[in-house]
Amino acid sequence: MSSCKSVYEPREDSTMLETWVKKHTFGKVLDMGTGSGIQAIAAAHKQNVSFVLAADAQKGVIGYCKKNIKNRKIKFVQSDLFKNIKGKFDTIVFNPPYLPQELKLKDLTIEGGKRGYEVIERFLDDVNNFLNPNGVILMVFSSLTKKEKVEESVKNNLLEFEELEKQHVFFEDIYVYLLRKREFLRRLENRGIVNVKYLAKGHRGLLFTGLYKSKKIAIKTKNPQSTAVGRIENEAKWLERLNKLGIGPKLLIQDKGYLAYEYIDGDFIIDYLKKSNNSKIKKTIKNIFNQLFNLDKLKIDKEEMHHPLKHIIISKNKPYLIDFERVRHSQNPKNVTQFCQFLMSWHLINILDKKNIKIDKSRLMMLAKIYKNSPTQSNFKKIAGII
Ligand SMILES: C[S@@+](CC[C@H](N)C(=O)[O-])C[C@H]1O[C@@H](n2cnc3c(N)ncnc32)[C@H](O)[C@@H]1O
Repeated sequence: MSSCKSVYEPREDSTMLETWVKKHTFGKVLDMGTGSGIQAIAAAHKQNVSFVLAADAQKGVIGYCKKNIKNRKIKFVQSDLFKNIKGKFDTIVFNPPYLPQELKLKDLTIEGGKRGYEVIERFLDDVNNFLNPNGVILMVFSSLTKKEKVEESVKNNLLEFEELEKQHVFFEDIYVYLLRKREFLRRLENRGIVNVKYLAKGHRGLLFTGLYKSKKIAIKTKNPQSTAVGRIENEAKWLERLNKLGIGPKLLIQDKGYLAYEYIDGDFIIDYLKKSNNSKIKKTIKNIFNQLFNLDKLKIDKEEMHHPLKHIIISKNKPYLIDFERVRHSQNPKNVTQFCQFLMSWHLINILDKKNIKIDKSRLMMLAKIYKNSPTQSNFKKIAGII
């Protein structure tokens, strides 16, 4: 065999992974960061493996492999992670470069970014688009690669993991993980949603983003830590109704345990107020008031409007009410009066003051009281007119 100094000579991590490759690989295999080709060869020797694509970012490595490895099942490609990869695989194997650059080893085959886990993070962010629904990922990494960061990335990409092996070698622990798509992810993909990524956690819901019919969407499912019952179903029911009145982001999918709606790319209300000018702010606040008055008229309580920091997003100067989990019918809905409360807070008065919008707090308080007792159109107009 000819040698090449950019080729990673198999070490403990390679042989540990190889053992599991021999056990778990099947179907079409992608060996990412193939190096000497050790994993690709182990996979190709298996009867239940039909094809192996061995990829590496380094041209020299690919040249070396093409010259030295002759196996009909294996094809080689130079690719920075998935850049030149097409199609889907049943097994994806990865022995990534995982050491932090801070160790100053200056070696591309083993350094995985400044902190060590960046290449793994990039890999996990994309891998689902190349993995069949029941496919598996076999990956090795070290305790020098912040394990909790790797696991966070696994979780954020809706994968689940099993630790197959852990070995202490000199100054580090080496782990081999088997990863699979979580059932929830498989269900989303089944509906044509791809690129699913964790976005945020609320008290009651977990929020993900995804691509559906080439558009970015938000997906909400129950936060497993929440004891609240039926919130997702409630939100889907109300969103469907309120969409007809031009309220809320457009509901796209409603399924068991989750709903998906158009992703609103904009700013939460405080950020918006801080960065917008006087006339835009006035128009936006009026628009919000109108939406809230419509809800009041229909005896629908949105709740949380006295503190709507994460409940209103403004996109292209259009305000969207979001989060309809707690919406309910009420004889005395408080949407308008709660929003008045919000505008009367010192924080808001200060922000608006900087934009030359003066809120007469005592007058607004008086108008809100009148409206509370008699929520008529004319009483509402007086409130909206204060801005
Ligand atoms: C630790 S070695 C593993 C080699 C071999 N698979 C093994 O198990 O011994 C990591 C390999 O990943 C390759 N690599 C590094 N960054 C990469 C990237 N962004 N995309 C693809 N391969 C990469 C390196 O060139 C190197 O060959």
